[in-house]
Amino acid sequence: MTYTRWTLRTEHTSYTVRLSPDGPSALDWSHRTHFITPADAAPAEYLPYGLRPFTGSELIAGDERGVWWEFDGAEHTEGTLRLAFTDGKTGLRTVLCYETVPGTDVILRWTEFTADGELRLERLDSAAVNIAVTGAARLTYLCGQWSQEFQLTHLDLERGTFAIGSLQGAPGHSYAPWLAVRGGDAAYGIALEWSGNWHITAEAEPGGAVRIRAGRVPHEGAVLLAAGETLATPRVACAFSADGLDGLSRVWHRYERRLTGDRLHRTRKVLYNSWEATGFDVDAAGQLELARTAADIGAELFVVDDGWFTGRADDTGGLGDWYPDPAAFPDGFDRFVADVRALGLDFGLWVEPEAVSPGSRLHAEHPEWVYRVEGRPSRLVRNQLLLDLGRADVQEFVLTTLDRLLGTYDIGYLKWDMNRPPTERGRPGAGPADLDAEHVAGYLRVLDHLRTAHPDVTVEGCAGGGGRIEHATIARTDVVWPSDNTAPIDRLRIQHGFLHAHAPHVMSSWVTDAPGILDPRPRSLAFRFVNALCGVLGIGADLRAWTPGQRAEAARWIACYKEVRDVVHLGEARLLGSPDDTSCGVQYDHGDRTVVAALSTGRLDGAPLLTGRPDRLRLRGLDPAARYRDTATGAEYGGAHLLHHGLPFAWSADHDADLVVLTRR
Ligand code: DGJ
Repeated sequence: MTYTRWTLRTEHTSYTVRLSPDGPSALDWSHRTHFITPADAAPAEYLPYGLRPFTGSELIAGDERGVWWEFDGAEHTEGTLRLAFTDGKTGLRTVLCYETVPGTDVILRWTEFTADGELRLERLDSAAVNIAVTGAARLTYLCGQWSQEFQLTHLDLERGTFAIGSLQGAPGHSYAPWLAVRGGDAAYGIALEWSGNWHITAEAEPGGAVRIRAGRVPHEGAVLLAAGETLATPRVACAFSADGLDGLSRVWHRYERRLTGDRLHRTRKVLYNSWEATGFDVDAAGQLELARTAADIGAELFVVDDGWFTGRADDTGGLGDWYPDPAAFPDGFDRFVADVRALGLDFGLWVEPEAVSPGSRLHAEHPEWVYRVEGRPSRLVRNQLLLDLGRADVQEFVLTTLDRLLGTYDIGYLKWDMNRPPTERGRPGAGPADLDAEHVAGYLRVLDHLRTAHPDVTVEGCAGGGGRIEHATIARTDVVWPSDNTAPIDRLRIQHGFLHAHAPHVMSSWVTDAPGILDPRPRSLAFRFVNALCGVLGIGADLRAWTPGQRAEAARWIACYKEVRDVVHLGEARLLGSPDDTSCGVQYDHGDRTVVAALSTGRLDGAPLLTGRPDRLRLRGLDPAARYRDTATGAEYGGAHLLHHGLPFAWSADHDADLVVLTRR
């Protein structure tokens, strides 16, 4: 062993790990402890129960539940670090793994376990991180429920434990697997890359530190590590920004652009999805009528959502029998797809591969494919059951079904939905299994297969809205659907939270007719468009009912979006204000262009908010000495003016949103 201290460097940060007890850590505040062990007081990277018995450990393993380990060597290269620890008694070897992500301020951490004999892992967190704080720990998290996902929420934690997580076999709608801690101007973030059960805890410790732990939560309460096998935990991405939550959001955006890889440069087409217009009432004539109107206003892609397959008159049947309903498509589905394509539109289809309706043919043929607990009734959620995607035969069914659909029909876009969590989660007769991890592995395997076997197909990730959004999904899909709530001000709040954790190029957003669920304040069509074009623009309204005037306005907005979408998807995004302010917006900078999506959240009765004065959004990150020209009005602003005085918006009863494109002169 040559080193007892290792440093990893990212774009603007460094991360140092020191092996105790060779020297104090920068976060160590005392070398004397009372009533606890030094390991309990230490700002430890990762410690087993046994060594850290009182203040929270990351690993609980073996029959005695305690592991006492010895350092067993380090491997350090530029950008990677592996620290090994072994426990002679349990035969467990644990490797703490670190990897920097080039071009970002993100470090990935995970842990690998290997044992000589079978070992029970009861707690197997991915990592812990220690953050110095002054006073209370200022936590920010994203919480909600179905249709209210990604509500940005703050909490000052002075002492005690804060915990978020999900046992729904998916990240869930209640909390995103994401947490930020603010200290002074800086912000630290962590995000768990895992689409199954999870937890993240924050413990405010005495002496000015908060300790975050994150990991998966085994459905069975423990994972059995087989002799000689290596088990790797999910990765935790750790991010840092010196510019607070807003800067941290840009670190996450950059990281997600990297996750998207080369596919980032594919144009994200303007989508029309018929779900909110037709629901389950899907037939060729009705869909084509919508497709024609969508094409007329400039949409580039037509997606048929739920309801296209046999037995799917409503949500009580059909799932699993993935064949187009011949009654709905009397001339054949391929003919229907060709008709949509003849309008110049790409074609997309909705599927819910893990789902099965109790009355379907699939369920009659394979009742054993569903999660079940012998002797217990299987509960329905949304009238459906869940396939055990951890099973190899179920994976094969899903792969061949998707291959068949994508091979038979000219499909360029697939929306993968999932609308129920596992309840009676068991696999009768199969012996011990790690059902949660096996489901995740099956899900990711199918997504990986789609990328390699059907590289031209764009994939949208959806789970009853934003129920399964995390980095493993984002790395394997092109866009995700943050919420089923498309009402204007509700959506603004959801997107404001979403964009703190995720990038604009993955945020699918539709213009619809939906009234507010949580906030019923009416908003203009312009507001709906400006809000939706903050990510990847789609339309989900019933265009048949739109007036010629509305269609013409929509066509103008869509044309405008096409002009700026590269800036929105490839640029640096800055969140301006919040939905609690009277004006709120997003600024995107790419090359010499700055796009500002501005939205009025105030009253719409015509009364100005400030007598005789416009509201203003102060822009950020511009060159104070440069000049910027509004490409629509020709108005010119100094950079310093935009930064310190702001871009003016004179909101009125019929002007509640704007899209400003500035060019640096
Ligand atoms: C839930 C999704 O979030 C919606 O967009 C829609 O696809 C429905 N499922 C269809 O059942």
